[in-house]
Formats: sequence, structure tokens, C-alpha cells
Amino acid sequence: MKNKKKICDGENWLYNDIVKDHFFHPRNILIDDTDYEYDGMGISGNAFCGDVMIVWIRVDSKKEKIAECKWRTFGCASAIASTSMMSVMVTEKGGMSIKKAEKLKPENIIKRLGGLPDKKLHCSVLGDKALIQAILDYKNNRP
Ligand code: FES
Repeated sequence: MKNKKKICDGENWLYNDIVKDHFFHPRNILIDDTDYEYDGMGISGNAFCGDVMIVWIRVDSKKEKIAECKWRTFGCASAIASTSMMSVMVTEKGGMSIKKAEKLKPENIIKRLGGLPDKKLHCSVLGDKALIQAILDYKNNRP
């Protein structure tokens, strides 16, 4: 008889259900950016672990609101879940204003995720930093 026991189904993983959901079903992830047109793009790296994050935004320039936020990372589960949540937060309810998005802090994202383990808090900074870079890129290149 074959062994049917699951080795790792995430059940006893250290993350809460919201974090797991965003890790297993990341929102707004962009795997192939070949033809993706964006208004701003930012890249950040985490010196602590060497992981990398890229964020692209599309902006409704009339309203100065974020219309789309796409991302891709070479990072861990916390980075994936945090950035997935961040991408939801900046695009929900018609999009977050650029001014408000610039003030978004990792703590705000972690709160919406229902918390992260202490040793994984630094991972939530990746998406936030890349978003700020993308906004700067947008501001520097807008007509
Ligand atoms: Fe590198 Fe989480 S360990 S982003």
C-alpha cells in the first residue's frame, strides 16, 4: 500500500490563515511582464536575506490613484503574502491615492494580514520599498 500522508500541506505552518491564503493564492502577481505596460516600476532587495522584489503600477493620472499594482518576487512566503496583501490594499475601493500609498507602512500591511511571526517581519518591507520606488519612477516620468 502506498503512503498517502501529506508531507507539507501548510496545516501546521507558522502562518495564520490569511497569510497562507495570500501565499497559496497570491493576488496581482505578474509572472511574465514582457508586454505589460506600466506607469512606474520599482525594485527592492533585502540585504538580510538577499531576496528581491519588483513592483509595477498603473496610475489613474486624473485622480492620482493607483489603478493597478502588479509584482513578482524572488522571496519567501512572508514576502509573497505581504506583497499580495499590499497590492490589494492599494487597488481596492477604486485605488489608493498616490499620497496615501506613499505613507503606507509595513505595519499597516502586517495588521491586515493578521500578523507575521517576529522573525519574518523584515520580509514585509520588500513590497513596500518597491512600491515607493515605483511611485518615484511614476513621478519622475509622468508627462
Ligand atoms: Fe527574504 Fe523573507 S526571508 S524576504
